[in-house]
Amino acid sequence: MTERVDFAQRYATGQIPWDSGIPDEELVRLLDDGKLTGQTVLEIGCGTGTNAVELARRGFQVTAIDLVGQAIRSARDKARRANATVEFRVGNVLNDGVGGPYDILFDRGVYHGLRLDDLKGFQELLRRVTRPGSWWLSLAGNANEKRDGEGPPVVTEQEIRAELGPLFDIVELREYRFTTNQNGFRPLAWSILMRRK
Ligand SMILES: C[S@@+](CC[C@H](N)C(=O)[O-])C[C@H]1O[C@@H](n2cnc3c(N)ncnc32)[C@H](O)[C@@H]1O
Repeated sequence: MTERVDFAQRYATGQIPWDSGIPDEELVRLLDDGKLTGQTVLEIGCGTGTNAVELARRGFQVTAIDLVGQAIRSARDKARRANATVEFRVGNVLNDGVGGPYDILFDRGVYHGLRLDDLKGFQELLRRVTRPGSWWLSLAGNANEKRDGEGPPVVTEQEIRAELGPLFDIVELREYRFTTNQNGFRPLAWSILMRRK
């Protein structure tokens, strides 16, 4: 079992290895391939907003939420500098109204943590913010790599299929590596492309 992460403290002390500063390569690949169709996007746990800004830059209408005010302040600055419009919100996605349903849901490094805190609450959220046909791209830590301590929480293929399969068709399940802000540290990850049943 992974320890609960104090995200506010992680941002306050700069211990945020996930914050690579570049759009995630899997998100970019699927956008370039035209796989994520629609107009409206909800990003859950957007951190400092790099991917939300990339989505807005490509013409999507983006709502992005994070628990941590400091992260959202950085995200707003990033959007301003990029001349991109994103509706950023500070809050807990499990409790705060985030509207929807959305055409596309995106998370990088959030499903793999929230499933440990409140899987049922997270599954209920997924149902609320999507409709049949909505896409979801989730990027998550991958249990197929043994690591000591450092790195994201991990999930197995079996867990993904059991937890997400009832509500979503799993369209693509690929292994890749997260890019971090630590040179050479690239933990194994899952790229999970899903479509709401
Ligand atoms: C591993 S970080 C990834 C951040 C960002 N997606 C990225 O790739 O840089 C997980 C993020 O999810 C946020 N988060 C965790 N639980 C959340 C919740 N219940 N509601 C909103 N945000 C949450 C954290 O504050 C943190 O910024």
